[in-house]
Amino acid sequence: MRYKLLATALALSAALPFTVSAGATDLEVTHWWTSGGEAAAVAEFAKAFDATGNKWVDGAIAGGGPTARTVFISRITGGDPMGATQFNHGRQAEELVEAGLMRDLTDIAESEGWKNIINPPSLLEGCTLDGKIYCVPINIHSWQWLWLSNKAFEDAGVPVPKNWEEFVAAGPKLREAGKIPLALGGQPWQAAGAFQVLMVSLAGPEVFNKVHGDKDAELAAGPEVKMVFDAAADAREMARGSNVQDWNQATNLVITGQAGGQIMGDWAQGEFQVAGQVAGKDYTCLPGLGVHDVIATGGDAFYFPVLKDPAQTEAQGALASLMLKPEVQVAFNLKKGSLPVRGDVDLATANDCMKKGLEILAAGKVVPSVEQLLSQDSVTQINDLMTEFFNGDMDPADAQKRYAAIIASAD
Ligand code: BGC
Repeated sequence: MRYKLLATALALSAALPFTVSAGATDLEVTHWWTSGGEAAAVAEFAKAFDATGNKWVDGAIAGGGPTARTVFISRITGGDPMGATQFNHGRQAEELVEAGLMRDLTDIAESEGWKNIINPPSLLEGCTLDGKIYCVPINIHSWQWLWLSNKAFEDAGVPVPKNWEEFVAAGPKLREAGKIPLALGGQPWQAAGAFQVLMVSLAGPEVFNKVHGDKDAELAAGPEVKMVFDAAADAREMARGSNVQDWNQATNLVITGQAGGQIMGDWAQGEFQVAGQVAGKDYTCLPGLGVHDVIATGGDAFYFPVLKDPAQTEAQGALASLMLKPEVQVAFNLKKGSLPVRGDVDLATANDCMKKGLEILAAGKVVPSVEQLLSQDSVTQINDLMTEFFNGDMDPADAQKRYAAIIASAD
């Protein structure tokens, strides 16, 4: 009987793209990918994993990254770990790794040569602690984009802006035409993200790196950053009336032409794609807000909590390894709107916006993401300040003072 099962498994493995393991099992994978584009992308991982004979048990958590991460962390520390889980590149899982709760993937990484294939190297460095590798980087997502609805501008009788200044100037005309100039969801991470995009795009990568990387509080209190706070006040004004919570609801306002634009990461591309919209024709994307061509090398990585069950441990290894396979990287990232973590895959079918992203990446015009530079505690303090700023009428100068104080004590 045993022999028969094994023979069937072996016969199956010949027909499948990946090796079917003898001890195939269910594996719960948690993430916060719940929008249409995100669901389409994660289905590619599930399909590839199921093809190994294991079964992907989907653990999607709604409400955005910060909500989901709280659940992941409390499950892992509370003794109810999942088989694999998403975090952003950077320091979000740092304490879990230090506490010995995450599986060491160094053997797999070495035997598969991850060091030679993952690009930029900072992504694998972000997975490394004391020389050991604890996660698989799966994509590069950048926050630094303005997504514009061509229809909204046509309705308002103004040309589609080519940069932030033109966008702000078009604000009143968009309002007159009954549009929300800037769609902004109500969750704190979205306001903070938009602010940081203004910072790197308007003040430039050097200021961004010095403030967040070197924690230069004097610079954060100075004139370059004042200009960013003034722009944030414009953005706040343009975002009045958005009245949505989730980022993809805000993207939907752009897709339907009810809003002029949205500052959001390139995961928004997944939504335009699901809605059948075409870059250049239905919507326009401006990396670095059309001011500084720059993208951050943020994105997602998968971690594998330490589990006792040998079959599940084996399935974790199978998942970690397939996430980096060229065909899986292409299928997943094309739907996700992110860039692959390996430069040797064929992205011929990438849309115009992804191609712009690839060019900026190839030119090395990149900055680390805020999650890579700051601890979660500092990120949360900035998120709180930005929610207060974007949802009230705080004076930009007061907000800047508070920002500089957070940077002064940031780690
Ligand atoms: C993740 C993306 C995700 C986005 C919105 C980001 O933190 O990197 O993969 O699509 O959040 O949910």
